[in-house]
Amino acid sequence: MFSIVILISGSGSNMQAIVRAAQSEHWQERYGARVTAVISNKADAKGLVFAREQGIATQVVDHKAYASRELFDAALQTAIDAHSPQLVVLAGFMRILGFDFVQHFEARMVNIHPSLLPAFTGLHTHQRAIDAGCRFAGATVHRVTPVLDVGEILAQAVVPVLNDDNEGTLSARVLTQEHLIYPAAIRALLQQHSPRST
Ligand code: GAR
Repeated sequence: MFSIVILISGSGSNMQAIVRAAQSEHWQERYGARVTAVISNKADAKGLVFAREQGIATQVVDHKAYASRELFDAALQTAIDAHSPQLVVLAGFMRILGFDFVQHFEARMVNIHPSLLPAFTGLHTHQRAIDAGCRFAGATVHRVTPVLDVGEILAQAVVPVLNDDNEGTLSARVLTQEHLIYPAAIRALLQQHSPRST
């Protein structure tokens, strides 16, 4: 079995898109792949409700309950390792992860970032793209390395920045594309993992 663990912090709309793609594209039958757990650092993350409704195991590892980043990372690592994942998917997971954690999961951890990397790493990507006068914005799926928002690019989507855009309108346009490229990028990884599958 190819176990996928998804980490969220909020609405989890990317997680939902991945779970829906897994169902409609029959990832279990085709690739032996299953979303085995959704883990959040916030107990009130809306995405947890959806995951529970889908019968997916959920867990909260609240960063506020730990005295240091290292202790939080260690607890999170233990929670993820319990599902022996072949792939760890960061989907709107809004905590910076430490070197040891990233090294433990490196080569099997991916992230989606709401900009056309390498432009606009970090936060407030949409407002920064508008402020910079960008005509295009987008999102990037990439492998995770110890350097924030840096790693092999697996997929990107581009959208126009319109004259009357604000952070809200632009982020909504980009998010629609995220919901397409993130499941597609994961499907491509699954196909590489089981090359005889279609
Ligand atoms: C998405 O736009 C994702 O790209 C972004 O947070 C949003 C989460 O939405 N991630 C980051 O900013 C990571 N630094 P979701 O919870 O509805 O998937």
